[in-house]
Amino acid sequence: MDKLFEPLTIGRITLPNRIVMAPMTRSRASAQGVPSELAIEYYSSRAQAGLLVTEATQTSPTGQGYARTPGLHNDEQSAAWKKIVDAVHKAGGRIFLQLFHVGRISHLANRTNDGPPVAPSSIPAAGNVWTDTLGMQPFDSPRALETAEIPAVIEEFASATRRAIGIGFDGVELHAASGYLHMQFLSSSTNRRTDAYGTNRLKFVVETLEAMVAAAGDSKRVGVKLSPAMPFNDISDDTPHETYSALTRSINPLHLAYLHLMRVPGFEIAPALRAAFTNGAFFLGGGYDYESAQRELASGGAGAIVFGKPFIANPDLPARFRNSIPLAVPDSSTFYTPGAKGYIDYPAAPRV
Ligand SMILES: Cc1cc2nc3c(=O)[nH]c(=O)nc-3n(C[C@H](O)[C@H](O)[C@H](O)COP(=O)(O)O)c2cc1C
Repeated sequence: MDKLFEPLTIGRITLPNRIVMAPMTRSRASAQGVPSELAIEYYSSRAQAGLLVTEATQTSPTGQGYARTPGLHNDEQSAAWKKIVDAVHKAGGRIFLQLFHVGRISHLANRTNDGPPVAPSSIPAAGNVWTDTLGMQPFDSPRALETAEIPAVIEEFASATRRAIGIGFDGVELHAASGYLHMQFLSSSTNRRTDAYGTNRLKFVVETLEAMVAAAGDSKRVGVKLSPAMPFNDISDDTPHETYSALTRSINPLHLAYLHLMRVPGFEIAPALRAAFTNGAFFLGGGYDYESAQRELASGGAGAIVFGKPFIANPDLPARFRNSIPLAVPDSSTFYTPGAKGYIDYPAAPRV
């Protein structure tokens, strides 16, 4: 029995298989955060996935930190995204939009507004980020968000959710992973606040998800991605087991569509979170191939498997899995470069 090809119903949609395309930044949008026309083909040619999750998309100009990432906070961006959603649906697919705010992982040259980036605390991240005008630059030093400013940041996620649902997205995913703003609130190395958002580091994530659920009008149209103990973007937590177990217990009553856990090698937390997350689907990702995905599903470790890099070079990944067709290898030098090369020029395998 091929577990990867069993359907999975999440709210009003049914995934025809348990192969989810991971959210992946591809940096093909305009400097103003408008998705490129190329993205229409990029996403719709991958519509065989049980579910597509888009690249991380900023909810405000302040939430941008990288060159050429898309936003969903103005009408021009909405119009461009709508063409992508329509094309995916026409091709028979389902698509969630991943929403994020980078927090301190940012450089002024990559933003369309002025002023420093914002974060839970004014602690800069060690490291550098690519800018199209100045090359590699150190991350900007952030300022700490005032307590009174936080509701407006949360409202930006509600507003982007309303836009996403309004243009036909099947749902939205909160990016609370990879060292961006929501993970900065969750983590002890980046959240030194003494207000309610510091004494309870879960509060910002929980309130953002509540706002997104209210905006979507259906909790099964909202998912969340977590990456406990992932050190990417200079972040750490003193007690990740406790933090993420408590977070999962706090969000379980929201009856979300899914919890998407990105595995970190050497840090075993998936079984505990899966057991605690009883009110939604459990997605696991990070380094899976066909065999390990089958084993994970067969053992009950996850409800669906998320594939990232394999989808970059194999638009027809589900068909390749089903027909045992060897996978093409992605070229990492074109992951984030503008244009069609390495984006929409990986062919589907010839039909068998
Ligand atoms: C080019 C690239 C861009 C990525 N961008 C994002 C992103 O925007 N949001 C996110 O949550 N994860 C992002 N990731 C992480 C993937 O979603 C996924 O968790 C990771 O690649 C592990 O899965 P894999 O081993 O199947 O590739 C990105 C990964 C790659 C390779």
